[in-house]
Amino acid sequence: MNILVIGGAGFIGSHTVDALCALGHTVTIYDNLSKPVHLKGKPPYLPEIEFIEADVRDKEALKRALHRKDVVFNFAAYQDYLPDFSTFYHVNDVGTALIYEIIVENKLPVRKVVVATSQAVAGEGLYVDSQGKAFAPDIRSEKQLQAGLWDITGPDSLPAKSQETPETFSNPQNQYGISKLCQEKITIHTGARYGVPSVAMRYSIVQGPRQSFYNAYSGACRIFCLSYFFDRPPVIYEDGLQLRDYVNIEDVVAANVRVMNDERADGCVFNVGGGKGYTVLELAEIVRDVFEKDVQPVLPGLYRFGDTRHIISDISSLKRLGWAPLRTPYDSIRAYRNYLLEQSDIEDIMDYAEKKMRSLNVVRPVTKDRAGKWA
Ligand SMILES: NC(=O)c1ccc[n+]([C@@H]2O[C@H](COP(=O)([O-])OP(=O)(O)OC[C@H]3O[C@@H](n4cnc5c(N)ncnc54)[C@H](O)[C@@H]3O)[C@@H](O)[C@H]2O)c1
Repeated sequence: MNILVIGGAGFIGSHTVDALCALGHTVTIYDNLSKPVHLKGKPPYLPEIEFIEADVRDKEALKRALHRKDVVFNFAAYQDYLPDFSTFYHVNDVGTALIYEIIVENKLPVRKVVVATSQAVAGEGLYVDSQGKAFAPDIRSEKQLQAGLWDITGPDSLPAKSQETPETFSNPQNQYGISKLCQEKITIHTGARYGVPSVAMRYSIVQGPRQSFYNAYSGACRIFCLSYFFDRPPVIYEDGLQLRDYVNIEDVVAANVRVMNDERADGCVFNVGGGKGYTVLELAEIVRDVFEKDVQPVLPGLYRFGDTRHIISDISSLKRLGWAPLRTPYDSIRAYRNYLLEQSDIEDIMDYAEKKMRSLNVVRPVTKDRAGKWA
C-alpha cells in the first residue's frame, strides 16, 4: 500500500515507518521537523524514502501528499507545557480535521486513517470511593499539592482507589488532553459519517529509543536515564508512589500495524498501554539497575502542577483483537540506554530540560510553615 505518515520523523512515527517499510509498503513521511523536538534538524535515523517537510495545517501541501494514498497515520502533535493554548487545538485538531476535509472534498479513496491520541484524555482516570462507588476526580488543587497531600480522596474525604481506565471514560484536565479528546471525536465521528475507516490510538507512556532529548514532555524515562548517564541522582516528584503504565515502542508499533490491517478496529478508540502499573520509584529503580549505578533518587518535595496522581489504562479492547504488550519497562530502558550510548554529541541536555521546566514555572516546591511542617 501507499502510506502517508504525518509526524513520521518523530519517536512513534519513525518506528512505525520502519515497520511499514519492512512489510513492503511504500511510505512517505510528512513532518515539519518542529522544534524543540528536532532541535538539530532532520534526524539521522530516518530511512531514505520520500520526505515532505510541511506542516499538517498546510492544506495545499497536505492535499498533494494525500494523493494516491491508501492509508494515513497522523502522529503530528503539539505537546508541551507552554501556555500557548490555542496551538494545541490548531495542530492536533485543525490538523486532523484537515485530513478528513481533503479526503471528502476530493473524494480520495483512503482506506484507513489511524490517529494518535493519548492517555491524557482520561485525565486523573476512574476512581472508586470508600463505598466502592465510581467517580471521576478532577485535577488536584494547588493548595492540596502545596501541602504535600498527594492522594486523591473521594467525595466523603476518605482515601479513594484508582482503577484501570477504559476507553469509554474521558475527563481531560489540560489543553493537551482536551485537544486529544477532540481529535478522537473528529477521527471517529467524521470517519463514520463520511465512510472513511478510522481508528484512534490512546497511547499510555511510550518508551524506547528516539524519544527527543529536547522535548520537555518526554517524561521520566528520558530524565532518569540522563540522570544516571551523568551520574546524578534523579529527582522524583511528590512521594514517588504515583502509578503509571509504560508501553514499549515495539509493542506500540505492533498495535499500529494490527489496527491498520484489521477491519474490526474501524470506528474504535483503543487504549495502548503496558497493562501493569509501576510506581515512579519502581521505574527509577529499574533505570538504576540497567545503568548499574549506586546513586539513589532524591525526593526534595517538588511537584509538577497538573500531573496526574495515578493513571493506568485498561487494555482489554485491544487485547480482544489479538494484541498484547510483550515487552517490559526493563526492555525499554535497556534499549534507551543503548541509544544514549550511541550519541556522539551529547551535552548536558538534562540541565536544558530542567531549566526549561523551571522557566515555565511547571515544577514547584511544597511549602513548609515556620515549625517545619508542610503548610
Ligand atoms: N510518546 C508518548 O509517550 C505518547 C503518549 C501518548 C500519546 N502520544 C502521541 O503520539 C504521537 C506521536 O508522539 P511522539 O512521542 O512520537 O512525538 P514526537 O514529538 O517525537 O513526534 C511528533 C512528530 O510530529 C511532528 N510535528 C509536530 N507538529 C507538526 C505539525 N504542525 N506539522 C507536521 N508535523 C508536526 C514533529 O516534528 C515530530 O516529528 C503524538 O500525537 C502524541 O501526542 C505520544
